[in-house]
Amino acid sequence: MEKLLEIKNLTKSYRQGTAVSTVVNNVSIGVGKGEFVVIMGTSGSGKTSLLHLIAGIDKFDKGTIMYTLPGEVRPPEQRSGHGTPSGHKHTDFGQMNEKAKTMFRRMNIGIVFQQQCLIPDLTVYENILLPMMLGTPPLLCGSQRKDAIFGLCSRFGLKEHINKYPSQLSGGQQQRAAILRSVINRPPLLLCDEPTGSLNRAQTKLVMDLLNELNQDGQTIILVTHDRSVAARGERVVYIEDGKIAGELQFSKTKPDGEELTHFLKKRGW
Ligand SMILES: Nc1ncnc2c1ncn2[C@@H]1O[C@H](COP(=O)(O)OP(=O)(O)O)[C@@H](O)[C@H]1O
Ligand SMILES: [Mg+2]
Repeated sequence: MEKLLEIKNLTKSYRQGTAVSTVVNNVSIGVGKGEFVVIMGTSGSGKTSLLHLIAGIDKFDKGTIMYTLPGEVRPPEQRSGHGTPSGHKHTDFGQMNEKAKTMFRRMNIGIVFQQQCLIPDLTVYENILLPMMLGTPPLLCGSQRKDAIFGLCSRFGLKEHINKYPSQLSGGQQQRAAILRSVINRPPLLLCDEPTGSLNRAQTKLVMDLLNELNQDGQTIILVTHDRSVAARGERVVYIEDGKIAGELQFSKTKPDGEELTHFLKKRGW
């Protein structure tokens, strides 16, 4: 499988006075294009820290984070059509300053957090429009933007809510709007940090249905969760303990109701 992201020997420590705590400890992970990778681990094991390094939000001490992306990162409808596999570009976070990483993140990475952070004074439509307006160079123009937003909202059950404000939606609907906002620019990678952590069962299912559909469309996803049923929606689980990879489980193609995962987690004290 073609790799989108290759992490090698990644290490990040925090210093408080003379004490040093290593929160990401010699982590190596490869993520293939179109993969749906789940990161699990107890609270404080370093999952969010790892996700922030992958997003280029935080600096790391050692190791490498390397992205391999097509030279052109615009949505398919705006591509010139001359892109070739050989046009792939390698991006090494270790060689980039903060500004360059921020630009890279804006173009290539969508992020969804546990608490939906929709802007309360904007409607669903306006919230999803926002990243298109911030995109550099701006993505799509007037009516194309409207079509893209209506298309996504219709497909994912938010059409009748498109002109509502976040406070008029359920938690699950808000989270789905937040996910659509994160993928409207078609970032090659979507990072989700416990996106269903504050949702009930039914809402969780709707959010996971959306993520599975996006993944089937080719969206690469890395998702952090505490929830076994959520993890079972992925293709592979990476288990983190004290900042280290303590185990990996690749699901078989015919996932038999999470049995493999139950066994895998039991061995790790769940
Ligand atoms: N800015 C920081 N300064 C110092 N320690 C931090 C900082 N951020 C996180 N940590 C510590 O790193 C460890 C891992 O945290 P985190 O990545 O948030 O874990 P998780 O997401 O798995 O719950 C925790 O012990 C936490 O206290
Ligand atoms: Mg966390």
